Amino acid sequence: MSEHAAHQHDTQHDTRDGGPGLPDGTSAEAAGIHSGATIHSGADPAATWDERYRSKPQMWSGKPNPQLVREAGGLRPGKALDLGCGEGADAIWLAQQGWTVTAVDVSAVALDRARSHEKAALAREAVHAADGAIASRITWQQADLEQWQPGASFDLVSTQFLHSQELAWQGPLRTAAAAVKPGGTLLVVGHHPDRLPPWGGAGHHHREMFYTGDELVQELGLEGPEWQLEVQTSRERPVTGPEGQHATIADVVVRATRLP
Ligand SMILES: C[S@@+](CC[C@H](N)C(=O)[O-])C[C@H]1O[C@@H](n2cnc3c(N)ncnc32)[C@H](O)[C@@H]1O
Repeated sequence: MSEHAAHQHDTQHDTRDGGPGLPDGTSAEAAGIHSGATIHSGADPAATWDERYRSKPQMWSGKPNPQLVREAGGLRPGKALDLGCGEGADAIWLAQQGWTVTAVDVSAVALDRARSHEKAALAREAVHAADGAIASRITWQQADLEQWQPGASFDLVSTQFLHSQELAWQGPLRTAAAAVKPGGTLLVVGHHPDRLPPWGGAGHHHREMFYTGDELVQELGLEGPEWQLEVQTSRERPVTGPEGQHATIADVVVRATRLP
């Protein structure tokens, strides 16, 4: 069934606070969502994001993003690509659903954490495995998405909250779309520019870091003949800020199938 509801807020209350896109106690500032920020394409994104990650022992909640779980939960597992995977919760969840995952991020610090979260998850699963061994299904890759090209195609390409002062979203999201196999799924989730968390500097966020569903669909040509646009919506969810503040933000969710 097609859910094509641009501008319509489908209120979806996730009972968890935060989520990797905007975790408990993590300020939008720490995530690089600064008041009055600009896209600094000349900055070194690896050094900048490593420093951001080092500023906290854990940046995100460690749980998979709710829109990923909702949108990919019913798909038949195959090969998946997670762009801007951060500390790895989405990639680990996908692997647990049976996907073989390539997970890419510019930050070596985030990827080290992701590997150790995966190791812990595998150790927990191994306890229940008949032979006591579970093999990794995730390839963690450090790369700058401003230049990186996958060199393969995937049954699912997911990018969740790929917002960064140092990276214009258009190029990496075009790379994401191009990496989807015929018959495969593209899933892009981001913070809605009009419903950002107030603790990042209300009303002063840099607009260029974010996109609406319409902007995304237009940029990626998802209404063209190569795609079946399955979901274009924005979904509200409650989150808790770094000082325990409560707010309702909205996730832009776009899911499309590349026509065979
Ligand atoms: C807001 S975080 C989202 C992380 C993860 N997807 C999640 O939802 O928890 C953005 C991620 O994009 C990564 N990133 C930023 N610029 C990048 C670039 N040029 N190339 C690859 N990854 C980048 C950051 O290191 C960070 O992990």
